[in-house]
Amino acid sequence: MKPVQIGLLGCGTVGSGLVELVAKNRSIIADRSGLDLQIRRVLVRDPKKERPVAPELLTTDPAQILDAKDIDVVVELIGGLEPARGHILRAIGQRKHVVTANKMLLAASGSELFRRAAEQRVRIGFEASVCGGIPVLRAIGAGLVANRISAIVGIVNATCNFILTKMGEEHWHFARALVEAQRMGIAEADPTLDLDGQDAAQKLQLLAEMAFGVTLEKAKFLVEGIRQIEDEDILTASQLGFVIKHIAVARDLGPSLELRVHPALLGATHPLAHVRAEANSILVRGDAVTEMVISGRGAGALPTASAVLSDVIEIGRDGQAEHGPAWHLPTRGEKPIAADFESKYYLRLPIKDVPGVIGLITTALGKSDISISHLAATLIEGKPGLGNVKIVAHRTKESALRKAIDEISKLPVLSGRPVVLRIFEEN
Ligand code: NAP
Ligand code: HSE
Repeated sequence: MKPVQIGLLGCGTVGSGLVELVAKNRSIIADRSGLDLQIRRVLVRDPKKERPVAPELLTTDPAQILDAKDIDVVVELIGGLEPARGHILRAIGQRKHVVTANKMLLAASGSELFRRAAEQRVRIGFEASVCGGIPVLRAIGAGLVANRISAIVGIVNATCNFILTKMGEEHWHFARALVEAQRMGIAEADPTLDLDGQDAAQKLQLLAEMAFGVTLEKAKFLVEGIRQIEDEDILTASQLGFVIKHIAVARDLGPSLELRVHPALLGATHPLAHVRAEANSILVRGDAVTEMVISGRGAGALPTASAVLSDVIEIGRDGQAEHGPAWHLPTRGEKPIAADFESKYYLRLPIKDVPGVIGLITTALGKSDISISHLAATLIEGKPGLGNVKIVAHRTKESALRKAIDEISKLPVLSGRPVVLRIFEEN
C-alpha cells in the first residue's frame, strides 16, 4: 500500500467533510487505488473549536505543513485570496502537489499558480472548485477532450438555486432560505459572493477557460445576482409557463466569447428547469456529443470532499509524472468578450397608479424599437396607489433594452427600481 501524506489547510465545512470521508471510505479507497490516505496535519485559526480531528494533528503554524518533509499533498480549504495564495505558492516552492476548492483564487490568480506548478513539476487539482461533487472539469477536460465545445449553460451556484427553489415551491422568505443555506454549509463564508453572482462568475470563468482553452483572468462580463427577485416575479413567471433560475452562460462565438451570469426565466421543458434545491447542473454542447448534461450536488461537505479526494487520489496514483493530467487549465492566450447579446425579457416596473403610466412606459420601449408580447398591470395589496406593470418583450439587443430601462427609470411615475430578467430560450 502506497501512503499519501496529506497536509490540510482549513477544517471548516469542506475540510471536516474531507476528514470524515477519509475515515469512512479509507478501505474502499485503498482497494480501488492502492493508496493509504493519511491526514498528517491540519491548519486552523482557532484550535479550540470542536472538529472531527485528533487535537494533536491541529496546528496554527502554516510552516508545519508547507515546509514539512513528510507531506506529499497540500489540500487548501481556507478559501479567499490571501493567505491561501501565499500558502499554495510556498507549498509549490517546496515541490508539493496542491489540491484546492478555491474558485475565487483560481479565477484571480490561476495562471500564476499553474505556471509555478509547471515550473516545479507538481500538480494542482481543482475539481472541487466548480460545482462541488460533480466531476464537470474532468468531463470537459478529459471525457469531452475530442470535442469542439460551443456552449456551456449551467446552474452553478447551489445557494442561489436553493433560495429560489424554497421561495418558489414553499413560499419561504429570501432571508429564511439564506439562513438555511448557511446552516447547511453550502453558502460561502461571505454569502454576498453567492447572492450577487460572483461565485457563479468565478466558476463560469474556470469552465470557459477549460472548455475554450483561453485565459479569462482579465475578462469583464455581465454578472447579476438574485437579490432583486420577489415572490411576485416567481409567481408571474410561473403563470407565464416559466421557472426562475440563476444561470451561467458561456458561448464560443468564434472571434469572441459570450459570458454572462444572471437570473433567467426558463421554459418548463428546458433541461435545467427541474434542477432543484442545492443541486447544480451543467449542459455542454460539443460538436461530437451534441448535448451532454451532468447534474448532482453542487456544494456541501461530503459532495465537495468527494471531488477533493478524487484529485488527491489521482495525484497519489500518478506520483511525480512530469505532465499534468489532461484537465489542467490550458493557457493559449485571451479572447475578447462580446459587447452585446440578444434575448427576450421579462420586466417588472413598480409604478404609481396614475393615468397614462402604461403609455409612458410603452413609448420609451418603442423608442428603442422594443416590441411587447405580453403586458399586465396589477395593484399591490395593502399599498394603495402603487402597482406593478409586467411586460414580456420580444427578442432585442441587451444594449437597446438597457437604454430603454434607463429612460423608464427616470419617469416620475416609477415608484421603485425596474426588475429586468432575461428569458433564456436556447439550450
Ligand atoms: P469554511 O467553513 O469557512 O472553512 C474555512 C476553514 O479555513 C476554517 O477551518 C478556518 O479555520 C480556516 N481558515 C480560514 N482562514 C484561515 C487562516 N488565515 N489561517 C488558517 N486557517 C484559516 O469554508 P468552506 O465552506 O469549508 O470552504 C472552503 C473552500 O472551499 C472555499 O474556497 C470555498 O469557496 C470552497 N468550496 C466550498 C464549498 C461548500 O459547499 N462549502 C463547495 C465548493 C467549494 P477556523 O475553523 O479555525 O475558523
Ligand atoms: N457557495 C457555493 C455554492 C459553494 O453555493 O454553490 C459551492 O461552490
